[in-house]
Amino acid sequence: MSRVSYVNGRYVPHDQAVVHVEDRGFQFADGVYEVLPLVAGRICHLDQHLDRLGRSLGALAIAWPVPRRVLPILLAEVVRRNRLADGLAYIQVTRGPAARNHQFPVAAVPSLVISVWPTKAVTAHQLENGVAVVTRPDQRWKRPDIKSVGLLPNALARQSAKEAGAVEAWMVDDRGVITEGAATNAFIVARDGALLTHPADQRILAGITRGNVIVLARADGIEVGERPFTLEELKNAREAFMTGSTMTVLPVTRIDGQPVGDGKPGPITLRLRALYAKLRQS
Ligand code: PDD
Repeated sequence: MSRVSYVNGRYVPHDQAVVHVEDRGFQFADGVYEVLPLVAGRICHLDQHLDRLGRSLGALAIAWPVPRRVLPILLAEVVRRNRLADGLAYIQVTRGPAARNHQFPVAAVPSLVISVWPTKAVTAHQLENGVAVVTRPDQRWKRPDIKSVGLLPNALARQSAKEAGAVEAWMVDDRGVITEGAATNAFIVARDGALLTHPADQRILAGITRGNVIVLARADGIEVGERPFTLEELKNAREAFMTGSTMTVLPVTRIDGQPVGDGKPGPITLRLRALYAKLRQS
């Protein structure tokens, strides 16, 4: 069975899924995207992802490429044609093709691409033992709350993490504060036991997994502080974990080569991981 993707109104073999060379996504990173978990044939948290897509499009004044209510139908059809039960779905919308010129084209027709792929992002070993993270300077623009396809600083940070034997890079901004990971949100259980994560302001992407984990924690009686934490607090943390559509809730047991707490996934992390796994299945 060959892979099929959706490009601008057509379902095409994945190796023929192309957009124009003058697409503004290609030339200016003038586009936005969503990555959605696919579990047992169903897209999880669909409305939350489409709400965020709407916010990203609105922030860049890009029109919906199709009415919002049509997107679930297209997604379901791509999933069906690929006969995929578990994996990730990808939606990308750009301002569309236009002669190269920085200002917006007068009559832009947005491009829409949808694809799916199976994933085994996290191994049983990583879940059990946790993973290593390194810290890197946050070199992104000042609006990472917009889920733009302009991901070069994120890609550089992730590559640098890989070269250092780590799974993710957590970014430290000019305040000395951890903002988030290259493609995940960052949480710690601080020395005093407080569960902390950066507030969902303009300096981070408001992760769907982050939001759901916060709701689950509070419902479970775990207090969550949405406040920035420093590199110093991170180094002294009892527990750390990352959240994201690809990683779910993944324990972080090493930071910059040093163990977090006792070097094992902590009880709050494991509790939230279990709660989140249940939510995804529901
Ligand atoms: N990344 N922070 C950043 C910078 C991200 O790119 C992502 C998602 C997250 C987590 O968001 P969510 O819980 O909604 O997946 C946080 C996607 C998965 C990616 O670029 O592959």
